[in-house]
Amino acid sequence: MILGIETSCDETSVALLERDGSVRVNLIASQIERHQPFGGVVPEIASREHLQHLFPLVTRALRDAGAGWNDVERIAVTAGPGLIGALLVGVAGAQGLAYGLGIPLTPVNHLEGHIFSPYLQREGASIPRPERFLSLVISGGHSSIYDVRGGSVTMLNRTRDDAIGETFDKVAKFIGLPYPGGPQIEKHAREGRADPKRFPFPMPHFKEASIDFSYSGIKAGAIRLAREHHVSATGDPGVLADFCATFQDALFDQLFDRLDAVWPRLGAPMPAEVAVAGGVAANGILRERMAAWGAARGVTVRIPEKRYCTDNAAMIAFAALQKGDGAGDPRRVTARSRIA
Ligand code: KG4
Ligand code: ZN
Repeated sequence: MILGIETSCDETSVALLERDGSVRVNLIASQIERHQPFGGVVPEIASREHLQHLFPLVTRALRDAGAGWNDVERIAVTAGPGLIGALLVGVAGAQGLAYGLGIPLTPVNHLEGHIFSPYLQREGASIPRPERFLSLVISGGHSSIYDVRGGSVTMLNRTRDDAIGETFDKVAKFIGLPYPGGPQIEKHAREGRADPKRFPFPMPHFKEASIDFSYSGIKAGAIRLAREHHVSATGDPGVLADFCATFQDALFDQLFDRLDAVWPRLGAPMPAEVAVAGGVAANGILRERMAAWGAARGVTVRIPEKRYCTDNAAMIAFAALQKGDGAGDPRRVTARSRIA
């Protein structure tokens, strides 16, 4: 079995996967409540929480799987990008375990964890991964489209400023909704009948022909509109619902605008599938729109189960298995907050 460890941000997660990629256990200790009073993740609190929860979670994962230390053949740990103090807890812990057990330790790029996550098993059955697929990673820290061939990943675009999840969170915070803002905005967007013209959000385009994302304009526009129309978590619920619905649509419209721009640029053989991952992929409205986008083009769209969209250790162990480069010396692994 492979043991996965993820501590890059505000969830401590430990997973045990079989060599074939099937998930035996995936445990997540969320710290959301600890950070909520501050309206966002406090790095020092995150590190301490990881320290407190990591080893008890590892012990529980082994117990839940009915496994012992002898069954662990390899460890995979998130080495970055993320909060450096948080990463260090996972990396140092994994190093100690791997060194003590005399087994290899594989550092995993958190983004590659998300990229391969749509191919994690569903209801016990593994999903075959095509030779080439297009990956859309939309999370609190990243918004990018990748071209994935075999195990190699090429970034096609990125955000020039804020990530999409970060934009959800910042605007939600401004109108007084609790952290994390994404699920809150989705909930209010579903309530009531949103009038799409009440809050006009323009689509950002750059002067030069670029397919990059940019969310700072929508964020600034949202804050201005929220101020003008007195949008607030404690204010008129109809206004709040309309605002959340049109704000969310504007964020997603940009994703589809860029996907439409990227798709015809891809050379033959075309990617067989589009795989969407990251916390924002848990959004039900996006999931419906993605399915419709794929159906209109005859493209298979893969989105992980919601529990594998937000940060989890199963995707970290799974990415290590996909890359297949297992024989790492635990002492050589280092945590990096940024990865070029
Ligand atoms: O992947 P993730 O757990 O952590 C990062 O690697 O960033 O993503 C967290 C982000 C947060 O910004 C959160 O607001 C967003 O995912 N998110 C959502 C939803 N659930 C989580 N955004 C929109 N709709 C959701 N239902
Ligand atoms: Zn993530």
